Amino acid sequence: MYVCICKAVTDSQIREAIDRGACTRKKLVHCLGVGRDCGKCNGDVRELLQACARHRCREPKMVAMLPVAAN
Ligand code: FES
Repeated sequence: MYVCICKAVTDSQIREAIDRGACTRKKLVHCLGVGRDCGKCNGDVRELLQACARHRCREPKMVAMLPVAAN
């Protein structure tokens, strides 16, 4: 679904950018251009950021498996 009509950016593109590290609205504006024109999408972009942050908090923590040194 299109979130930013002005830049033709979908919610999937925004979620992918968030997963890749665009963790603030400012970073999303920089990498996708959302919110730069009319600004009507800013509320939805903010909601997506919050939803992704909540989802991340519920994900189990990844534990790195380090090789054990052989003696
Ligand atoms: S809908 Fe996103 S800037 Fe206009």
